[in-house]
Amino acid sequence: MKVGIIGGTGDIGKGMALRLSQNHEVIIGSRKEEKASLSCDACCQCLRELNLPFNLTASTNQGVVDDSDIVVFSVPSETLQITIDSLTGLEGKLVVSLMNPMERGDFFKYAPPEEGSAALQLQRMLPDSRVIAAFNNIPAKQWNQIAEILDYSVCVCGDDEEGKKVVMELVNSISELQALNAGPLAVSATVEAITPLVINIAKFNKMRDVGVYFR
Ligand SMILES: NC(=O)c1ccc[n+]([C@@H]2O[C@H](COP(=O)([O-])OP(=O)(O)OC[C@H]3O[C@@H](n4cnc5c(N)ncnc54)[C@H](OP(=O)(O)O)[C@@H]3O)[C@@H](O)[C@H]2O)c1
Repeated sequence: MKVGIIGGTGDIGKGMALRLSQNHEVIIGSRKEEKASLSCDACCQCLRELNLPFNLTASTNQGVVDDSDIVVFSVPSETLQITIDSLTGLEGKLVVSLMNPMERGDFFKYAPPEEGSAALQLQRMLPDSRVIAAFNNIPAKQWNQIAEILDYSVCVCGDDEEGKKVVMELVNSISELQALNAGPLAVSATVEAITPLVINIAKFNKMRDVGVYFR
């Protein structure tokens, strides 16, 4: 499966590239191809040093859309409109949203757009794409510690059952992640809101590696 990451140079994008590229063809995307190449080189070096297999390349965000089966949106949600305006050809694509709109003050607060969630906003902006919400609650740090097992539960929401199945298979192909069908895309608001909760729990209890496990 060819997976492209829009904003793949960010904290979460790099971590996902490190994990996903061991089992899938992955493209790191960026507004600037040179920035994507630098990120890609760093990830390849890291994987090579650990003697891990990988299939990883770099491109622009548009290159990601052109060449991927699954397009992951890994940009800050407030940059969604400008990012979408810069892209063409997303019609019919399977699009994954892991975005969690949040306000930061003394504590983290879920701050959804008027559509109800970042994933629902993305679906409104891309009516002809199949948007699936997944990977919302895994911290970037854990993605990046590739010598360690990732064993979180991953809620997957979407209105396209076939697309949801494909994304659940993608989730289950990574380390010990466990995909759970959380229902339609409307549930994404609840899933996105878990992330500020997790961060607040970690902060106020001085806990590390807080994550979501459903057992
Ligand atoms: N960090 C986490 O632990 C975590 C966990 C779960 C979900 N998430 C979600 O994942 C998404 C990405 O998080 P992140 O921490 O990786 O974010 P980030 O590092 O701040 O940004 C990711 C990438 O987005 C692009 N970007 C930044 N500003 C932009 C702008 N104004 N216009 C267009 N593109 C811009 C940049 O790529 P280029 O400069 O290369 O174009 C950047 O590398 C967020 O929506 C967040 O809610 C994050």
